[in-house]
Amino acid sequence: MAAVSSRIRVILLGFGLAALAGCGGSEPGAAASSGEPYVIKFPHVVAPATPKGQMAQRFKDLAEQRFPGRVRVEVYPSAQLMEDAESIEALAFGEVQMIAASVSVYDRLTQKFQLFDLPFLFPDLAAVERFQASPAGRELLTALVDNGILGLQFWHNGMKQFTGPRPLIKPEDARGLKFRVMASDILQAEIEAIGGSPQKMAFGEVFQALQTGTVDAQENTWSNIYSSKFYEVQPYMTESNHGYIGYYLAVNAAFWKSLPDDLRAGLEATAAEVTQWGNSRSEEINQEDKQRIIDSGRSELTVLTPQQLEAWQAAMRPVWDEFRDRIGADLVDAALAAR
Ligand code: LMR
Repeated sequence: MAAVSSRIRVILLGFGLAALAGCGGSEPGAAASSGEPYVIKFPHVVAPATPKGQMAQRFKDLAEQRFPGRVRVEVYPSAQLMEDAESIEALAFGEVQMIAASVSVYDRLTQKFQLFDLPFLFPDLAAVERFQASPAGRELLTALVDNGILGLQFWHNGMKQFTGPRPLIKPEDARGLKFRVMASDILQAEIEAIGGSPQKMAFGEVFQALQTGTVDAQENTWSNIYSSKFYEVQPYMTESNHGYIGYYLAVNAAFWKSLPDDLRAGLEATAAEVTQWGNSRSEEINQEDKQRIIDSGRSELTVLTPQQLEAWQAAMRPVWDEFRDRIGADLVDAALAAR
């Protein structure tokens, strides 16, 4: 975490120096007057073959095809440009123009998105989608405008599963294990509730941390477990579907407002189309990746029975009481109504 914080400080310092020197870089409207294309830098942390990786690439392809010479979308996958925490800072400051960080990592800016981290809140992606399409869900798209961030869409990855060094069948099996979690207080509380020791960590550091034993276990979607090869260093997996990983497709609000109206409207329509395309395929991608992991023979899968699942739900339930008011009881009720 220290490394992440210092990288963020470097970014902030960079912005300060750029402002002092009067060379802000992505000055609104600059591209239009010089005839150069608008450049949308779009960093993300997962592999190109994942649901998010495919959606980001499709957005680029369609946007550049529909607006030749007017927009260039530079997609940087696999944390090659920056990790999630830095990308949120960079987006707010206009250093990058578009991101799709996990909803879980926004808790320094808003507690509302933590809704998505409540364990066992949503039984499946269809329930998540019903909530996101509801008035309460749509309102979340503008929850960060005061931070200079505008949400365009929600993108799905999938439901989370556990991986670890031993079979995780009962919640007690998690006792004493160090679990990597995303930078979310709820996820921290969730792991504490099952007796594990949570370690917040950037995605790009997880494989090595699992390999070297810095952490013992982790939770993620099949597509992330497969594409980032976690299954190669985690001998056991549990299909628990205990939480959701999805993304807030967001843009720098000032940059977005500076675009010509027709371009902005066209890009928003493209983002909506890509969302529909990608969200309807994300479950299939996850199931294919689950099968690829099984076929590899590298990691043994436990599928929990309904009774076993109930024990996990009961163990994690206190997290709801702890966070309900912080998230907003109305929001939790709206999500429950969508189940
Ligand atoms: C994680 O950090 O585990 C995920 O949010 C990464 C991602 O973007 O799916």
